Amino acid sequence: MTIEQAKAMAKSTLSAKRYQHTVNVKKMAVKLAKQYDADPEKAALAAYLHDLAKEKPKEELLQIMRDNAIMANNAEQRPAPVWHGVCAAILAKTRWGVDDPEILDAVACHTTGRPHMTKLDKILFLADMTSAERDWPGVDALRRLEMESLDAAMREGLRQTIDFVNASGKKADPMSAAAYQDLIETV
Ligand SMILES: [Fe+2]
Ligand SMILES: [Fe+2]
Repeated sequence: MTIEQAKAMAKSTLSAKRYQHTVNVKKMAVKLAKQYDADPEKAALAAYLHDLAKEKPKEELLQIMRDNAIMANNAEQRPAPVWHGVCAAILAKTRWGVDDPEILDAVACHTTGRPHMTKLDKILFLADMTSAERDWPGVDALRRLEMESLDAAMREGLRQTIDFVNASGKKADPMSAAAYQDLIETV
């Protein structure tokens, strides 16, 4: 799948609001890729793919994970907000002809991070948190930090993600805590 094809699929699949978010994530991901000497084309493709399963019903996401148990890696046991990234990666590989594991992994972990994150994982995670339309308290500080240090921004972004989920009274995915711990240990 080319970048243009992924963009067209995002446009035809997603609501106007989520498509605009996706376009903004793509712009931020390309900016970060250039800043950190990563591949801007991989960043763009990962960004267009990342939320393609977000508007699917939960039952459909569960079915996709059941049908692709190896790639799903028990994600159905994890909190439901995690499923759409895992399912987008599964669909990208099984239906849309995306074979690059770097892109598939970044899409799969874009909501929570994971231990031993690659540069592309970090770029997509942060681009999703800091895309132009985001206005949560602290987003401007994270936008400055991510241009200075990818790892410092990842620690801050993960901390914010974990705090946000805890504050909402939901159960945070242990994968976020594991990703955070891994980043602390690699300082
Ligand atoms: Fe997402
Ligand atoms: Fe997103």
